[in-house]
Amino acid sequence: MKLKHVYIIFGVSGSGKTTIGRLLAKELNIPFYDADDFHPQSNIKKMSDGFSLDDNDREPWLHILTDQIKNWHHDKGAVLACSALKIKYREKLESFHPNLIRWVFLEGDYEIISERLKARKDHFFRSELLHSQFETLEKSTRGISILVNQSTANMIIEIKSKLNAQKSQIGLFGLGVMGKSLTKNIASHHFSLSVYNRNVEAKEVDVAKNFVKELSEDVKPFDDIETFVASLEQPRIIMLMISAGPTVDQVIKNILPFLDSGDCILDGGNSHYKDTIRRELKLSKQGINFIGVGISGGEEGALKGPSIMPGGSKKGYDLCASFLETIAAKDKTDRACCSYIGLNGSGHFVKTVHNGIEYAEMQLIAEMYHLMRNFLGKKPDEIYKIFTSWRTRNKDSFLLEITTDILLKKEGTDYLIDKILDKADQKGTGGWSSISALEMGTPFSTVSEAVMTRFLSAKKTERVKASTLYPLENSTSHEDIEIIIQHLEEAYYTASIINHAIGFDLLKQTSLEYDWNLNLSEIARIWTNGCIIRSDLMEKITTLFFNTGETPLLLFPEVVTLMRAGINKLTFVVASGLQMGCALPVLSAATNYFLNYSAEQMSANMIQAQRDYFGAHRYQRVDKKSGEYFHTDWKN
Ligand code: 6PG
Repeated sequence: MKLKHVYIIFGVSGSGKTTIGRLLAKELNIPFYDADDFHPQSNIKKMSDGFSLDDNDREPWLHILTDQIKNWHHDKGAVLACSALKIKYREKLESFHPNLIRWVFLEGDYEIISERLKARKDHFFRSELLHSQFETLEKSTRGISILVNQSTANMIIEIKSKLNAQKSQIGLFGLGVMGKSLTKNIASHHFSLSVYNRNVEAKEVDVAKNFVKELSEDVKPFDDIETFVASLEQPRIIMLMISAGPTVDQVIKNILPFLDSGDCILDGGNSHYKDTIRRELKLSKQGINFIGVGISGGEEGALKGPSIMPGGSKKGYDLCASFLETIAAKDKTDRACCSYIGLNGSGHFVKTVHNGIEYAEMQLIAEMYHLMRNFLGKKPDEIYKIFTSWRTRNKDSFLLEITTDILLKKEGTDYLIDKILDKADQKGTGGWSSISALEMGTPFSTVSEAVMTRFLSAKKTERVKASTLYPLENSTSHEDIEIIIQHLEEAYYTASIINHAIGFDLLKQTSLEYDWNLNLSEIARIWTNGCIIRSDLMEKITTLFFNTGETPLLLFPEVVTLMRAGINKLTFVVASGLQMGCALPVLSAATNYFLNYSAEQMSANMIQAQRDYFGAHRYQRVDKKSGEYFHTDWKN
C-alpha cells in the first residue's frame, strides 16, 4: 500500500500553525490535527500554570504523536500543527519515515509573534512563555520556510508553490533497464527523485518524461543536464546508471560544471576498479565525493533490493548511506546488504570478484547439467528434480533456483534449453577478475577456466567440424551412471566451496596490496541476499569469517569436514566424466586446485630444475636454509 505524506507546520506558539495547518489541510483535502490535542493532561496543566515544558514532559507527547503519524501515513496523510522546536523532536517525529514528512516552518521575529499572542484569547499558552520558546527553537535547513507577516491566503499560495518546487534528494542519471528498475526502487521508498535521460532524435525521445508517467510516485523527469542538477538538494547525490567505460568519463565531464564542492557522484555501473581509482582521485581534488558502487542482482534485484558494494569517499558514503542502505536487499537479520567497502576502487573491485565467482558458479551448474543431459541420459525435468532435491539440503542458491526454472521452461512440447545455441557471451567482468588475479599472483583457476570456457564456446563452427573428426566412444554402464549421479551433489558442493575459497583469497590478497582493509565477513554478509551469488554457502562463509577473516576458507575445521566428505566424490565425478568424453573445465580446475592446495609435495621442483637448466634461474633446496639459491651445471 502506498504511504502518504504528513505535512508538519512548525514554529513557536502564536506563529499561526493551527490556522495555516487547517487551511492547508483543506486545500490538500486531507485531515488536520493539532499536536496540542495530544498532550497528556499533566503537560496542559503545567503550561496553563505558566511553566514551560521540559524534555521529560515532551517525551510521552512526542511518542504519542509519532505513533499517530505512522497511522496517518498508512491512511490519507495529514497536516499536523506542532511546535517541534528542537531538531531532536523533529527527528523523533519523522522517525517512522523521514522521506514522508514535509516540514513547513512558520518564521517570524519576536515582536510580530508576541503581538499576535497578546491579541489571542482562550488559549492555555501565556505570551510570557514566548521568550523560552524562542530560546528553545533550533532552526534547520530541512523543509520550507514561510514568513508569517503576510496574509494567510498568501502564505498558503507560497507553501504550495514552495512544496512543488522542493528539490529532490536524489538524482538518477541514465534510464536503461537497471536505471529504470532502480528508480522504481528508490521512489517506492519515498525519496524525492529527479531522473535524467538524454534526448537523441529518433532514438531516445522523451525517455524520462514517458517513464515517469508509468510511476505512481512523484518523480521529476529531465533531459537537460543543467536543470536536472539544479533540481537537486545540496549537497547533491547523483547516481550514474550508465554503461561502464569512456561514457562514465564523458558524463562526469558534462555534469561537473554544474556541481559544487561537497556534492557526491555515485557510479552504479560495472566499472573497472582502476578507472574508479583514477576518477576518485581526480574528483576528490575538485572537492567532489566519488563512489564506485558495485550493484548486483540484475533487473529484479535493482527493483526489489540489490546487494550494494560502495567504495570511495567515506564522507560521500556517509552522505548517502541511509539512501543506499534503504534501497538495498536485507539479510536474514534484516540488516541492509550494503556496507561501506573501503577507499577508492574497492567497491567496484569487490563487485568484479563477485562476478568472477558468479562466472564459475554458473559454469559449475552448467557442467552438472551438461553431464546429466548429454552423457548420463537425463531429461530436463529429471535434472530439475535432482537440482531441486539439492536445494533442500543446505545447498540452495539463487543460481540453482533459476536453473530449475530454466529446466522446466517449454515451447510447446519442447524444452527451451535444448533450443538455445551453446555460445556464451560475456561483458568482461569475469576476465577482469582473472587479470587482477594474474597481477596479484594469486591462483584463480576456477574463474579463469569459466572465462576460457565461454571463449571456447564461441568457436562453434570449428567445434562442430572437430566433433566429426573426434567422435566419442562411450561405454559407461547403467550401474556406473547411477553411481555418478549419486555422487554429483557432493561433487558440486565441494567444487563450489573451492571456488569461493579462491574468490575470497583474491579479495584478501588485493586488499593487502591496496591497503583497503576489506572485511571478508561483511562482504560475504552483503552477498547473502540481493546478489546473483547469494546462497546457503554464503551464509555459512559469513559466520566463519565473522570470527576471523585471517584463516583461509579451506582451513576452517567445519570446511575441512565438508571437504573430506566431498573430495573423493568430486574426483570420481571428474574422472568419470572426462572418461566419458564430457568436458568439465571448472570442476576439473576446482579438483586440481584442491589436490595441489592440500599436497605437501607439488610438481614445482621439476619446474625449478628445468628453469635452472635452460636459464640458470637457480633453485632453493629442501635440505638447505630457505632463501639460499643454488645453480647446477646440469650437463656435466
Ligand atoms: C549482477 C550481474 C550483472 C550482470 C553481469 C553479466 O551481479 O547483477 O553480475 O552485473 O548480469 O555483468 O555479466 P556477463 O554479461 O559478463 O555474463
